[in-house]
Amino acid sequence: MSDSKTCNIVVLISGSGSNLQAIIDDLVNHPSARISAVVSNRADAYGLQRAQQAGIATHVLNHKDFADRLAFDTALIQVIDQHQPNLVVLAGFMRILTPEFTRHYAQRLLNIHPSLLPKHKGLNTHQRAIDAGDSEHGCSVHFVTEELDGGPVVIQAVLPITADDNAEQLAQKVHTLEHQIYPLAIRWFAEERLHLSPQGAVLDGQVLASSGFQFNS
Ligand code: GAR
Repeated sequence: MSDSKTCNIVVLISGSGSNLQAIIDDLVNHPSARISAVVSNRADAYGLQRAQQAGIATHVLNHKDFADRLAFDTALIQVIDQHQPNLVVLAGFMRILTPEFTRHYAQRLLNIHPSLLPKHKGLNTHQRAIDAGDSEHGCSVHFVTEELDGGPVVIQAVLPITADDNAEQLAQKVHTLEHQIYPLAIRWFAEERLHLSPQGAVLDGQVLASSGFQFNS
C-alpha cells in the first residue's frame, strides 16, 4: 500500500457500470480505500456518468484509435498510472489484455466474470450454462494473469438454474450476486487481507481452494 495506507483503486469499464456503482456505494465511507479514477474504452459507457456523479475522475481511451492491442494497452497503462493505483479493477471491461498489461499489474489486477470459473470462460456465459445443462451457475472474482479468465479465483457465488430460467433472467440473478461479491473482494484487498501468492489467492493467511471463498447470500 502507499505510505498513507490508502488503497488507490482505478476501475476499468466498457458499459453500464452496475458493478462500479456497487463498488462506489460500498467504499463511500471506507477509511483507507478510494476510487481514484474510472477509465472506459467507450465514450458512451453509462458507468462514466455514475463515476462523474460520485465525483470520480474519468478518462476515455477508444481502442479504435490505436493500431493494435499493444499500442492501446501501452496508452492505457499511462492513463492508469497517473493515479498510482494499488489495485486495478476490471468491472465489465470487455477487452482482451496483452501479457504486457497483465504483467505490469501483476498481483494488483482483479476481474469479475459471470460464470463459475473455470467453466464458461469468454462471452455468452448465461446461455452457455443453460445449453450445457448445468444445474448451477454464478460468478467469480479472480486475480488476472496472462491466461484469459484463468487467474486464481478469490470468491464465487453460486445459484441454481431452474427449468424456466432463460439467459436474461439468469444474467439478472448473477448481476445481483456480482454486486455483493465484488465489493467484498475489493475490501479484502484494500484491508490487506487478500493477496496473490505463488500458491494462489491468499485470504487471512490461508491459501484459498481453486474455487475461492464460497459466498452465501
Ligand atoms: C458483468 O456481468 C461482468 O461479470 C461482465 O460484464 C458485466 C458488466 O456489467 N464481465 C465480463 O463478461 C468479463 N469477461 P456492469 O457494466 O453492469 O458492471
